[in-house]
Amino acid sequence: MVTIKPWRCQICGETYLGSKSSDRCPFCGADGENLKSAAHYIEYGEIEMSEQSRKDCLHALELEIDNQVFYQKCTEQADNQISKAIFKRLGKQEGEHAEVLEVMLGEEIDFNPDPTIPDNDFDRFAKSNEHEKRAINFYLEVARRAPESRVRQVFRARADIETEHMNLANIYK
Ligand SMILES: [Fe+2]
Ligand SMILES: [Fe+2]
Repeated sequence: MVTIKPWRCQICGETYLGSKSSDRCPFCGADGENLKSAAHYIEYGEIEMSEQSRKDCLHALELEIDNQVFYQKCTEQADNQISKAIFKRLGKQEGEHAEVLEVMLGEEIDFNPDPTIPDNDFDRFAKSNEHEKRAINFYLEVARRAPESRVRQVFRARADIETEHMNLANIYK
């Protein structure tokens, strides 16, 4: 019998029980190097941040919620089980991304986007590509200007995760 241990993602804070680490955080998609043995996890919580970083985090939060809703709707309408599985996980990851930003900001926002959903999976993945590109470009831009190391850490990790989402969308469309 294998012994399972607690792991924790340094980017999203989610916990994971397993005999070994994973190559990606199952919750937010961050590279497995961010999955630490729980004892080594650093809890950042709410971050004191510059006015610009606050604005950037609020904008990021809107992007993440928009993408979360986009993928939730794509999941409902997916043409097959493969695309459904992908959209379902991407929706959960974007939701996780939004939650982390809310923790960093110490606030939630009232934002109810209504993204357009194309009527077939090929076009849904093409649209997903646009959503991800927009997020990647934004994260790359703001990661350079954030003075707070934790904010930079999260923005950089996001740029990588959203790039993987975009590559996935390109493979399946
Ligand atoms: Fe995201
Ligand atoms: Fe994404």
